[in-house]
Amino acid sequence: MKCLVTGGAGYVGSHVVISLLDAGHDVVILDNLSTGHIAAIPEGVRFWNVDLEDAQATYDAVARENWDVVFHFAALSSVGHSISEPFHYLRHNTMNSLNLIEACTFHNVRRFVFSSTAALFGDESDLPQITDDALVNPTSPYGDSKFFIERALLWADRIYGMRSACLRYFNAAGADPRGRLGEDHRPETHLIPLAIDTALGVRPCLKIFGNNYDTRDGTCIRDYIHVTDLADAHIRVIDQLDERSVSYNLGNGLGFTNLEVIQSVERVSGQKVSWEWAPPRSGDPAILVADSSRMRSETGWNPKYHSIDAIVETALQWRKRHPHGYDDYNSRSVLPELWS
Ligand SMILES: NC(=O)c1ccc[n+]([C@@H]2O[C@H](COP(=O)([O-])OP(=O)(O)OC[C@H]3O[C@@H](n4cnc5c(N)ncnc54)[C@H](O)[C@@H]3O)[C@@H](O)[C@H]2O)c1
Repeated sequence: MKCLVTGGAGYVGSHVVISLLDAGHDVVILDNLSTGHIAAIPEGVRFWNVDLEDAQATYDAVARENWDVVFHFAALSSVGHSISEPFHYLRHNTMNSLNLIEACTFHNVRRFVFSSTAALFGDESDLPQITDDALVNPTSPYGDSKFFIERALLWADRIYGMRSACLRYFNAAGADPRGRLGEDHRPETHLIPLAIDTALGVRPCLKIFGNNYDTRDGTCIRDYIHVTDLADAHIRVIDQLDERSVSYNLGNGLGFTNLEVIQSVERVSGQKVSWEWAPPRSGDPAILVADSSRMRSETGWNPKYHSIDAIVETALQWRKRHPHGYDDYNSRSVLPELWS
């Protein structure tokens, strides 16, 4: 298949790109490198430096080829920053996505896969896991921006017949098990890479936000899904789009408290992680754990990484080899031997 991947130089997008390449597909990455890394783009893969904010450039990029599927990862994605800069987040995520979606409908793209999020959901669910049909009630502008895009995709299907998959990731974590890619957000806001950097002595001390949630140790519970399992989900979902649009929650179904994640990093690294309490962050629900049974039964998706230690291990291995993240690469895919 011929695939256009927006945000393919970023964390999740780059892992999906290598899975697409490993499966023999033809990939073009569209990215403005605002948070992505040139070194995360494999040698030989076409890269178009386009900002989705530029509607004409986006339109021209989509017009250049006939795409079998468009994957849309490019976004601003920090819940916390979206609370401090709500309009920037709402504008960036929604307007840029509309530029892309409109261009795709105009150029007759039939299949579109969208990175949505668990941040669609609030705290209301009484169930231990959040189902695909749970009430959508975002507690942050970030979550709301993603919900708006899901709605836009609904209209793109109803009016133009463009089928879409809205994949609501819970916490993406880990790194390519073959060591080709890893996680390098700047600033980093995700718990596992922060805890690993603290264990490796790259960061002095980690903040744990809130100790009075209604959970087993008072800290937030999150569901960590390995980024390679997420990548597999993106490929499996494409077949669904011949028939209809879909939305799926993608998670492990297992919840770990912040303190349990820290303990896992200590176990796997053999190092102490120093941390301190900080006030709870607005927009952070106590528990977000996915029920992904519909994705599993309808697509045969079967995540391989269940234990938090196994997920942490892949992230730790990459970070140990690349303590400065992608700055340790000289150019695009500095380790070409790993790409063969
Ligand atoms: N990482 C997670 O745990 C997680 C969880 C839920 C949802 N998501 C969603 O998955 C997607 C990818 O997340 P990530 O962690 O890989 O983020 P990331 O920041 O690593 O990647 C985003 C990529 O999009 C590019 N980009 C941003 N704005 C752009 C623009 N205007 N034009 C072109 N390119 C642009 C960036 O340069 C970057 O390469 C996002 O949509 C995010 O909301 C991520």
